[in-house]
Amino acid sequence: MEKYVIRGGNRLCGEVEISGAKNAAVAILPATVLIDGVCRVDNIPSISDVSTTLKILKSLGSQIRYINKNTIEIDNSTLQFHTVPHDLARHMRASYYFIGSLLGRFGIARVSMPGGCNFGVRPIDQHLKAFTALGASVSPMENGMIEVVADRLVGNSIYLDVVSVGATVNAILSAVLARGTTIIENAAKEPHIVDLANFLNSAGADIRGAGTDVIKVFGVERLHSTHYSIIPDQIEAGTYMVASAATGGDVLVKNVIPKHLESITAKLQEMGVVVEEYDDAIRVTRPNRLIHCNIKTMPHPGFPTDMQPPVAVLLSMADGTSIITESVWENRFRYIDELRRMGVQAQVDGKVAVFQGVEYLTAAPVKATDLRGGIAMVIAGLAARGVTEVEEIHHIERGYENLVEKLANLGADIRRVVTSDSLISRAL
Ligand code: UD1
Repeated sequence: MEKYVIRGGNRLCGEVEISGAKNAAVAILPATVLIDGVCRVDNIPSISDVSTTLKILKSLGSQIRYINKNTIEIDNSTLQFHTVPHDLARHMRASYYFIGSLLGRFGIARVSMPGGCNFGVRPIDQHLKAFTALGASVSPMENGMIEVVADRLVGNSIYLDVVSVGATVNAILSAVLARGTTIIENAAKEPHIVDLANFLNSAGADIRGAGTDVIKVFGVERLHSTHYSIIPDQIEAGTYMVASAATGGDVLVKNVIPKHLESITAKLQEMGVVVEEYDDAIRVTRPNRLIHCNIKTMPHPGFPTDMQPPVAVLLSMADGTSIITESVWENRFRYIDELRRMGVQAQVDGKVAVFQGVEYLTAAPVKATDLRGGIAMVIAGLAARGVTEVEEIHHIERGYENLVEKLANLGADIRRVVTSDSLISRAL
């Protein structure tokens, strides 16, 4: 078992470079399945969700060549399998993007129901609605697998009942090579949806309107080789902005798209944090005690649900009472039980959490409950008095490239430690 050991109290100061976006990478890599040629993709984050996605591609027959740590060449001309193994799919939610891309390429996909963070019920009814609208049939199989099959996919209108990132991605993937035009209404508008569309268009697709709530996909015969660079990670950038604010630091967050960070910037400013925007960087300083505020998570361009746990750490130290309303996920406050061990005072009632700000947090042994809940514990540890140990860090490493190195470069006292338990179990 690995854990982070953090001695809190150091102000974070200096510069940090943001990696490529996890949620764009885990959509674009499955999308390469649709391309009968070679794709070179730059700015791929080196995180475990990407390794899992690449393992799935290899299991399908992809030829993968690393140009360097963050650039990969993928040749899918020899792809031959259409089943995603359960032992890979169970590690991450986005494994279901292979349904859309395999269906689009071969007219058949067999994929296990996906894993990922546990935020309560996570249905995929809107994904299935998109596949069936294009003429596919969906059948449950043994062992929690589903099979989606179509003789010929034909474009259609798809109205999503909920604004879903995943269903929008899957609708695009299955429509790109379909005959005719697909119109996706009430589509998600997240930056990674736009990035996916730009990637596919660079390979010859005809997708218009990504970034708005109506996306039109004009089916094309085939896609060709391409070279593409993934956008910077909005949530990783927001995480370092919050870490600077939590420690009273002065951090220049580099390689970002400030437009993608507007809702986060606005809330930090409301809390008294100073945010200076440059072309592709943001400087975050916090001169005085944080001021309380209320936050409601929303689909883009609203405040991102994935920033809810990190920002909760700020509110737990702000002067006064703050309220977070989680409107995207059913159950996304499980991490607060762990944070209470560090002195956070919060009451949770369903989708609402009320924070009574305290002067300071105190170190404690805690467990990451999920990816973003886990990073909240790291930020709390950086700000707290004493030594915090964060366990179950495999959740965190699904989404943050070189976390320990990046934080240590900013002056944090953080180490990744392999415990004797894990050394013993590896030896056995
Ligand atoms: C993606 C992100 C995740 C983020 C979330 C919301 C990736 C890999 N993950 O997850 O980090 O927290 O967007 O911004 O990009 N829903 C349905 N039926 C469906 C699909 C979704 O009811 O078929 C509901 C969900 O239960 C949830 C809401 O819609 O309440 C939004 O989910 P969705 O946008 O699909 O999230 P993901 O794509 O899984």
